[in-house]
Amino acid sequence: MKKIMITGACGQIGSELVEKLRRDYGTDNVLATDIRKPAEMTGPFEILDVMDAEKMMQLAQDFEADTLMHMAALLSATAENNPVFAWNLNMGGLMNALETARKLNLQFFTPSSIGAFGPSTEKENTAQDTLQRPTTMYGVNKVAGELLCDYYYTKFGVDTRGVRFPGLISNVTLPGGGTTDYAVEIYYKAITEGHYTSYIAEGTYMDMMYMPDALDAIVDLMEADGDRLVHRNAFNITAMSFEPSQIAAAIKKYIPSFEMNYEVDPARQEIADSWPDSLDCSAAKEEWDFKANYDLDRMTKDMIEKLTLKLKNQAS
Ligand code: SER
Repeated sequence: MKKIMITGACGQIGSELVEKLRRDYGTDNVLATDIRKPAEMTGPFEILDVMDAEKMMQLAQDFEADTLMHMAALLSATAENNPVFAWNLNMGGLMNALETARKLNLQFFTPSSIGAFGPSTEKENTAQDTLQRPTTMYGVNKVAGELLCDYYYTKFGVDTRGVRFPGLISNVTLPGGGTTDYAVEIYYKAITEGHYTSYIAEGTYMDMMYMPDALDAIVDLMEADGDRLVHRNAFNITAMSFEPSQIAAAIKKYIPSFEMNYEVDPARQEIADSWPDSLDCSAAKEEWDFKANYDLDRMTKDMIEKLTLKLKNQAS
């Protein structure tokens, strides 16, 4: 990777990925694109609607990109509320990005998700290669996307790579419209109000990961020796698996007065219930040495420290 173009650069992952890549590869070697211009962005930025295939190609060509990271997508709960739009954006955007990569011979990354599994998948230690019959539009998009990326590699030789991300927790940009968002919101509310009402029911386990580990995973996979990769796309990765009362207990260690209650949102609960409890990520470990550094306690300590500072600065 020398000249990297990113779509969805203002999203939850994109906003931090751009910063990391600019630190590692040089500001001018990373072109951030999104449908709207962020309030603060230093370094190359262009407005791009991922449905505009021609503009995507032109921007990548003018930038002389050698890598395309396609991050623009609707998350699970939003996609469920507008399935036709989700199909058009998630699949149309991905096709445009893959075609750009094929025509310009770019290395390619796009994320899949735990949402690519469904209720008939085994819940615990979910295997890398297993039954995938998701019951959400987001999941349908992710499975189709995984297959498309494999197809572009086998058919056209495009160097496609990707992971199945679990819920991602970060203190920079809020996620929007996901099922796992509760695990981010809870930290904000713990600090500002000392209380959180969880829309996910007690006992609902989902895989999660702290953003620094997610960003390292992207770079490690992209820099990995391609000859070692058997799977290439859709590697299971995870750092921890917890349910709401466990994250609440972890927060209570640092904010002893914190309290949580439940008001379950049936729509998002149904999505969560259809996903695995915990993924097996041995393929990622074997093929490109995946590792995660943050467990629930270490992440919680860091989240509370960083968010407290951020929210204090915002208030002053
Ligand atoms: N975090 C995503 C969501 O909840 C899952 O990939 O939609």
